[in-house]
Amino acid sequence: MTKQARVLFVCLGNICRSPMAEAVFRSMVQKAGLEQAIEIDSAGTGDWHIGRPPHEGTRKQLDSKGISYSGMKARQFAKADRDKFDYIVCMDTKNEKDVLAIIEDDIGGDTGREGRVFTFMSLLPELNIADVPDPYYSGNFDEVYELVEQGCAKLLSEIQRDLQA
Ligand code: 4NP
Repeated sequence: MTKQARVLFVCLGNICRSPMAEAVFRSMVQKAGLEQAIEIDSAGTGDWHIGRPPHEGTRKQLDSKGISYSGMKARQFAKADRDKFDYIVCMDTKNEKDVLAIIEDDIGGDTGREGRVFTFMSLLPELNIADVPDPYYSGNFDEVYELVEQGCAKLLSEIQRDLQA
């Protein structure tokens, strides 16, 4: 079966938040039996950690829940990702701004992809939080996991609805 929805999570370094979201979302998609229909990846707007596995704090969270991150390695967001993904989910508002700048830079200020790029926290408007907090300095991976789990569940239900539309 061809993939019907392609999802890319984006943060700054692609070692803390977006790989956590990628792994958690993949686990939910597998449980829902949709791994043939939904493709999942993550990337960072920065280039410092290219090729590295997820941060120890992210790995610990995933290990404690029995969620695999096998083979995951950081990569940088690229202009070409605009055409490869249907849902570009940015972990904070700065990531979203940077993603939009990279995309617009290539095509003269008009993304033409309305609604494809959005923030992770826009999935959970009731929480009134703009950004998934960056745990790289705070070390608070627990709160990131809680938000990631809630947001990924919401994203899956939205994609399931979109696939049926
Ligand atoms: P992430 O966290 O964007 O959630 O992966 C960070 C990782 C690395 C850096 C900043 C944030 N850094 O400055 O290297």
